[in-house]
Amino acid sequence: MIGPSLSSNMNAFPPYLFKELDKRKQEELKKGKDVISLAVGDPDLPTPRPIADFAAREVKMSSNHRYPYGCGSARLRKAITAWHYKRHGLKLDYETEVTVLIGSKEGLAHLPFALLDRGDSALIPDPAYPAYKTGVLLSGARVERLPLKEENGFLPDFGAVSRSAMRRAKMLFLNYPNNPTGACADAAFYKEAVAFAKKNNLWLAHDAAYSEIYFKKPSPSILSASGARDVAVEFYSLSKTYCMTGWRLGWLIGNARAVQALAKLKENIDSGQFNAIQETAAFCLENHAGLVKPIRETFKHRTEFFAGELKKAGWNLIEPEAAFFVWARPPAARSSLAAVYEILEKTSVLATPGSGFGDSGKGFVRFSLCAPDARIKEAARRLAGIKW
Ligand SMILES: Cc1ncc(COP(=O)(O)O)c(C=O)c1O
Repeated sequence: MIGPSLSSNMNAFPPYLFKELDKRKQEELKKGKDVISLAVGDPDLPTPRPIADFAAREVKMSSNHRYPYGCGSARLRKAITAWHYKRHGLKLDYETEVTVLIGSKEGLAHLPFALLDRGDSALIPDPAYPAYKTGVLLSGARVERLPLKEENGFLPDFGAVSRSAMRRAKMLFLNYPNNPTGACADAAFYKEAVAFAKKNNLWLAHDAAYSEIYFKKPSPSILSASGARDVAVEFYSLSKTYCMTGWRLGWLIGNARAVQALAKLKENIDSGQFNAIQETAAFCLENHAGLVKPIRETFKHRTEFFAGELKKAGWNLIEPEAAFFVWARPPAARSSLAAVYEILEKTSVLATPGSGFGDSGKGFVRFSLCAPDARIKEAARRLAGIKW
């Protein structure tokens, strides 16, 4: 090694899972294989045309070209409060209970810096989206696993959390509709989660990035639970709702102290999202129903089709109720990684090993239905032909 050493923070992280998988995919492509990637949760559908057209006009307006306002433009924060009132019946104060993010991942990873001290711990669902852990570890806090078991519909069992896990706990992450399991939570569960957080004096961060990609009934907000605003905040994102992953816009709502703390932290780190994108976000929210409907229907159709085909092929799974993932165990027992590499070798279909989302994901494989319908059909056909 030449030069100074890197921060020991860097030792806390395994290589980013998708990077490893992408390397394997590139190797297969080099061999001339027709790879179908169902690994990454990044919609293949383009951002709806009216959104892109609106944004193109906003980009040209010089009023959008200067530094954005730290916690987001007043116009967008008002549009966010109006949308939550219409969608969830929530009354939010746009000045204190809303802050705009450069995508929800950024906010999820930064929030622990604002809420935790070195030596505290955070309860994190297992399996889970990796960004929660990133922020917790970098802030010097510890991770306590909160297993999501199939027999509980992939909801955590708060009664099973050990006393030792609770000793230093100061924060709880939840995520419904859930990545990677596709499970949803109802108002009764949120009531229980808020009561658990309040009883144990925990901050509760709920990640609702997939809130609009539901298949049966609209997913509720955790902030509708009585007393939630004493401890809870909720993350939202344009990314999946409108197929806008590259645009980088999300927001946090809820407990004013926590929202303001994150806004203050971010004021010292970044300078907000481009005003043209913030204006476009307001446009999206004001035209929500028409924009999201075809996207939701596409993912519903794909997910139901693919889950059905896997079931016919002998895979074990619970029908997903939201998002665009199928979380399943293969017909023959394999470790997640072995299953993913076997599938890639035999069919050139790339999936994600469940173990990449945590120990409770062992034995599972996640398929992300972010590929054109014809490719999803072809992937299902190839998977059905595997001799396990
Ligand atoms: C559960 C979950 N939360 C948050 C995010 C981050 O979304 P974004 O940063 O694009 O808003 C993702 C992205 O895949 C996710 O799966």
